[in-house]
Amino acid sequence: MTGLRFARLNPDALDAVLALQRDACGPLMHPLGEAELSDMLAGPAVGRGVVLGALAGEGTGGLAAFLAVQFPGRAAHNLGRDYGLPDGDLERALHFTGVLVHPDRRGQGLHRRLIETAARSVLPPDRHRYWFATVRPENTASVRGMLSVGMRVFARKPKHDGHDRLLFVRDLSAPAGG
Ligand SMILES: CC(C)(COP(=O)(O)OP(=O)(O)OC[C@H]1O[C@@H](n2cnc3c(N)ncnc32)[C@H](O)[C@@H]1OP(=O)(O)O)[C@@H](O)C(=O)NCCC(=O)NCCS
Repeated sequence: MTGLRFARLNPDALDAVLALQRDACGPLMHPLGEAELSDMLAGPAVGRGVVLGALAGEGTGGLAAFLAVQFPGRAAHNLGRDYGLPDGDLERALHFTGVLVHPDRRGQGLHRRLIETAARSVLPPDRHRYWFATVRPENTASVRGMLSVGMRVFARKPKHDGHDRLLFVRDLSAPAGG
């Protein structure tokens, strides 16, 4: 066990999330912008996403990891468009836009646990049928983390900063990996 507590982060966590990202993002993750992060921290009722944190102790000072989830709606960048979803299904897509684990906590399965915990506690499948993510092919840990939660690669193309990325999907109405 990791001795960490999982909790949905609120807007007060903005500085802690940005600090962890600044210190430990590395070259393979496309860093989240402050505005899009604020929007996700606002939560699904107000903003367009949700951020789950793994915390050591009370408060957000001990932020060990986070998973940022975006509900892209009908935006042009909705990965459902790459997947060929009909317009009516775009609202049922979500993006795992960022997952980051503090270097001291890596290799303990937190990538998978963050997604599994989010799925259980903050991502009701009746509202969000399709999970999407993009990952640089050389980011082995993240590729394996996505595969470990039943996602599969459906395309490879340049995204964000022009680097080639694997596009992952999981359709919750299909068997894992389907
Ligand atoms: C990618 C990242 C989130 C992985 O977090 P993590 O909690 O260490 O990952 P896990 O321990 O859950 O490992 C996931 C899988 O990758 C494997 N793995 C972990 N580190 C690895 C490494 N350095 N090289 C190869 N495989 C690795 C694990 O064995 C596991 O595989 P399995 O499911 O087959 O057992 C973390 O390395 C990180 O924060 N990187 C910087 C930010 C980033 O690139 N984020 C992803 C893009 S948004």
